[in-house]
Amino acid sequence: MAFDRFGRNINYLRISLTDRCNLRCVYCMPEDMTFRPRAELMQDDEVLRLVRIFADLGFHKFRLTGGEPTVRANIVDLVREMAATPGVEKVAMTTNGLLLDRLAQPMAAAGLKRVNISIDTLDPDKFKKLTRWGEVEDVWRGIRAAEAAALEIKLNAVVVRNYNDREDVVDLARLTLYQPWQVRYIEMMPFGEISDFQLAGVVTQAEIHQTIESALGPLIPVNPGELDGEASLYQFADAPGRVGFISSVSQPFCASCNRARLTADGRLRLCLLREKEVDLLSPMRQGATDVELVAIIKDGIWWKPWGHGLSQDVIPLNRVMSEIGG
Ligand code: 5AD
Ligand code: SF4
Repeated sequence: MAFDRFGRNINYLRISLTDRCNLRCVYCMPEDMTFRPRAELMQDDEVLRLVRIFADLGFHKFRLTGGEPTVRANIVDLVREMAATPGVEKVAMTTNGLLLDRLAQPMAAAGLKRVNISIDTLDPDKFKKLTRWGEVEDVWRGIRAAEAAALEIKLNAVVVRNYNDREDVVDLARLTLYQPWQVRYIEMMPFGEISDFQLAGVVTQAEIHQTIESALGPLIPVNPGELDGEASLYQFADAPGRVGFISSVSQPFCASCNRARLTADGRLRLCLLREKEVDLLSPMRQGATDVELVAIIKDGIWWKPWGHGLSQDVIPLNRVMSEIGG
């Protein structure tokens, strides 16, 4: 098992498979985003080797992210080999849903259990504005395909002031009145070169909560004081679905953080909001043995940071979100 110096057991790995995406959400990347040359990204055998090493270290939950993980070639085979690795209990994915129409079924058959699908608004025009060119109808098609493939579904919305902070959050919450889904609102986090835009547009959990309750009535806490993963959960009376808040900015959940991240270029990132990273890809390419890699990983995890520095204006600048994977 891998522990950090605060006694946290780190056993959940989020792997960014690519920094590329078929959308350009305004809160995630600049419009003229340049992507890394493919040779700088982990190749399939390198990803799978690291999954095996992390599973040996006691990691049992793995989530594939991006950019957009479904644009990676061979994604179905990657899921299959990952899910078949001894020690891997759960493989999940965070996706924008656009390609689920054709990938949900084969990925589910390969061992994928759950998808978190991003849908920031149900309004087609606003969706296009937020994603720069996306069609919300394509996401719906993806959601239906995920349902048909019996994948567990959560919906994620990043809330941005003046884009989707009013009736949009209400419309999304209304879905939980008749669908057994978890709809989660994510506070926008500042990163890299678009941090000014992000800081100006943050909408806090308290405000979103208030907007939803004024329109749809009281939200009842589910397991008050406890988090479901990273989300605090609520529900409307008798509703089949749940409303969740992921409030990394206003209410960080560092004490219960059990995760580490692998960037698409093979760096172990210990905290989303801190720049500290440990290079795994270079040693791998220079011939490091598994034993040597384990030592590098354990040392990195030991020094996993605690707490973001946003209130002291410390903003991670070395990367944008699509390179870390959310
Ligand atoms: N703040 C919070 N979440 C973000 N995501 C992308 N950019 C940000 C940001 N600035 C999330 C998206 C998606 C995942 C890839 O990362 O909602 O779920
Ligand atoms: Fe792509 Fe997701 Fe970033 Fe949007 S938030 S640009 S869908 S990676």
